Amino acid sequence: MSRNVEGNVEGKAEDLAALIRDRAGAEPPAFGLILGSGLGHLAEAVSGVAIDYTELPGFPHAGVSGHNPKLVIGDLEGTRVAVFGGRAHYYESGRGDAMRLPLEVLKALGAHSLILTNAAGSMHPDLDPGDLMLLSDHINFSGLNPLIGEPTDARFVPMTEAHDPGLRSALKAAAAAEAIPLMEGVYAWYSGPSFETPAEIRAIRTLGADAVGMSTVPEVILARFLGLKVAAISTITNKAAGLSDEKISHEHTKAMAPLGAAKLERILRRFLGTA
Ligand code: HPA
Repeated sequence: MSRNVEGNVEGKAEDLAALIRDRAGAEPPAFGLILGSGLGHLAEAVSGVAIDYTELPGFPHAGVSGHNPKLVIGDLEGTRVAVFGGRAHYYESGRGDAMRLPLEVLKALGAHSLILTNAAGSMHPDLDPGDLMLLSDHINFSGLNPLIGEPTDARFVPMTEAHDPGLRSALKAAAAAEAIPLMEGVYAWYSGPSFETPAEIRAIRTLGADAVGMSTVPEVILARFLGLKVAAISTITNKAAGLSDEKISHEHTKAMAPLGAAKLERILRRFLGTA
């Protein structure tokens, strides 16, 4: 066993995957699903085996309220899924690769794709609280990268079409079948944990982003590094700083996320039912 520069123990993902298979069965999940702030209850929709992150050494503490730190492996609409009820954010630890081990485990379990969800602020006039946005692309506004320190040439990950066109089409078809509007847009990753200033929001909007949040982008990069197909959907919980009179807060994020969560669940169920 050797340690890479980030301190991850090589072989650990395989060990954890073996532990998970012992508990949940050997059948590989097709999809991983990561649930964002206020969206953790979706894990309860899965009939399967729930494993607390505390039972999986090296998994994040998921110390952010509104998350549900459990891995649930089981069936959702006839498709085997691995649902991560909480994620680690860069701002909790200062580690850009905080989700590397869970995603390595997902890969080791045999999944081929990852669907990410998050709560986000909107800079787009047509995206209001309660709306959903499918990420067509992203802007890494944090200056960080989860692959910093990765010693192999695999670190030079191409990011053209990082957000998988096939998965995006299937998610759009699922939304259309449910008659739920699902606009595509660009998501900017801001490090957090403080929210953005209005000037930062004007800057990010000028750069071409439609929504802003504190997660997801490092997971997209890690997923592509690991060879997982990936797509992501934002639940808009607020207009971004300076764009409305509403006060922005984590409480507000958690209170507003359920508005979009019900629609998100219908889209994901439809998507998985036809996957
Ligand atoms: N900014 C960053 N992250 C967020 C926001 C926001 O306005 N809303 C929900 N998550």
